[in-house]
This record gives sequence, C-alpha cells and structure tokens, in this order.
Amino acid sequence: MSWGPFSLEGKRAVVTGGAQGIGFGIVTRFVEAGAKVLIADLDGGLAEKKAASLTGPGAAAGMAADVTDVGAGDAMLARAAEVFGPVDILVNNAGIYPQVPMLDMTADLWDRVQNINLRGLAFVSKAFAAAMVEHGGGKIVNIASIDGLHPSMVGLAAYDASKGGVVMFTKNLALELAPHHINVNAIAPGGIATEGTAAPLEGSGMSEAEMEAMIQQFIANKIPMGRMGEPDDIAKAAVFLASSASDYMTGETVVVDGGTLLT
Ligand code: NAI
Repeated sequence: MSWGPFSLEGKRAVVTGGAQGIGFGIVTRFVEAGAKVLIADLDGGLAEKKAASLTGPGAAAGMAADVTDVGAGDAMLARAAEVFGPVDILVNNAGIYPQVPMLDMTADLWDRVQNINLRGLAFVSKAFAAAMVEHGGGKIVNIASIDGLHPSMVGLAAYDASKGGVVMFTKNLALELAPHHINVNAIAPGGIATEGTAAPLEGSGMSEAEMEAMIQQFIANKIPMGRMGEPDDIAKAAVFLASSASDYMTGETVVVDGGTLLT
C-alpha cells in the first residue's frame, strides 16, 4: 500500500458523528489509508457496530459521546488513549440541520443547533488542541457547509449562522495553533446524500416517484456536475486535509459541492 503524502499509516484519528453519513465515509477512507480511528457518536451502539464492519489496513473502534457535553473531548481522548494512544487527527463532523423558518424558530431549537454545530465543535477542538500541543502537532478538520458561505434554502438561518461560525472559528483557531504545528482546516460540502438528508424526505409522506422527481429537480437547478454528492466525495478531501499532503495549508475552507456555489 503506498498512498505517498496522502498516507495515514500510523496515524490515530477521532471522528465525531462518525457512525453514519459523511462521518462514516471519512472513517472508511481513513481506515483504508492506514489510520486507527475512534468513532465518537451520540449512538454508541451504532458507532461500535460500524467500526467492527471495517477491515484494515487501519482499524476502528466506537464509543458513545455527545459533543454538547463540555467534557466530551476529554472523554474521547481518554478512550483513544486506551484503544490506540495519543491522537494526531480530529474530525469535527457531528452536526444537525433542522429546516425551520426563522419566523417559527424557538430559542430551544436555536440553542440546540448552535450547541452541537458550533459550541460543541469549539470545545471538543479545545480539548484536542491542548493534547496536540503537548504531543507536538496535529490536524483538525471541521465539517462546515456551503451554507456557511452562502445560503442554500429558506429555513436554515440557525444552521447557516452556526456553519458561518465554523468557517471563522476555523480561521482563528488556525492562527492560534499554527506555532504549535497544528493545521486547522474546514470542508464545506454541498448536498450530500446521507441518512440525515434522506430522513425528512422519508417522513414527508411523498411517494418514491415524487421524492425522486424532487431530487432530480434540485440537481438540475443547483448542481452543475449533475449528481448529488456522496459521503466519499467529502472523505477524499478529508484524507487530504488530515494527511501530510496539506502540511502548508491552514485556516482554509475547501468547498466540495459539484459546482453549486458557482450558480
Ligand atoms: P447524519 O445526520 O447522516 O449523521 C450525523 C451523525 O452525527 C449521526 O451518526 C448522529 O448520531 C451524530 N450526532 C448528532 N448529534 C451528535 C452529538 N451531539 N454528538 C455526537 N454525535 C452526534 O449527517 P450528515 O448528513 O452525514 O452530516 C454530517 C455533517 O456534515 C454535519 O455537520 C452537517 O451539517 C454537514 N453537512 C452535511 C451536508 C449534507 O448534505 N449531508 C451538507 C453540508 C454539510
């Protein structure tokens, strides 16, 4: 196996929200690139099951974690230390995207979105950054969204505020951690077909044909490359940002959206 500068052989990673969707796509490629990966997900059972489904050359383990707990980062580091040692790579992927117009927004839902997508990401990063400073370096990859750069649809004001926050948090943390040899970058995915994006469609009462027609219309209007993204489209960018291939990049947000923001 030779991945050149993209190899993650001997690296140890934690992926939040890695039990499904984009997160699991990232875990899968990391294991293929040789990393040992801990999946830290709200659904600990699913995290363990999905970790066990992966075969080498790297390895994966799972644990239950809620990124909104201020102690979650330290708990992940402690579990990682038991399973494989100090962590080189953190991927902050856990996030939610409820679609609710601002005129119907409650303070509780607003807080939940910010707590998971931004506050959780910030304090998990804080815990890992402290450990990485001690360890001599590392890579932090934040999963933002094209919605952090430009709104994609009505009903995502809270989400867009949180992801815009992730883009700017990424830049300032990168500035702070650069002297410690820690790269902090983000990925801004466009529309990616995941369990999370399928759920509202499945609960909408639409027939399969109606759902398919809606998706095709969305693609025709919004995605120049003519297809929805897949978790693996984001995973490959994550391998780049987690590997030595991106050693001289920091504070950057890489857009992976099939051309959506060009329209
Ligand atoms: P998903 O809903 O399919 O999976 C999210 C995972 O995160 C689940 O396994 C869930 O259990 C876990 N999770 C949720 N809250 C958590 C918490 N508090 N602590 C720990 N784990 C938690 O989501 P998907 O679609 O894979 O999205 C992943 C990330 O990518 C999110 O940050 C999302 O905002 C971002 N994104 C997704 C896009 C898409 O079209 N799917 C587009 C742009 C960004």
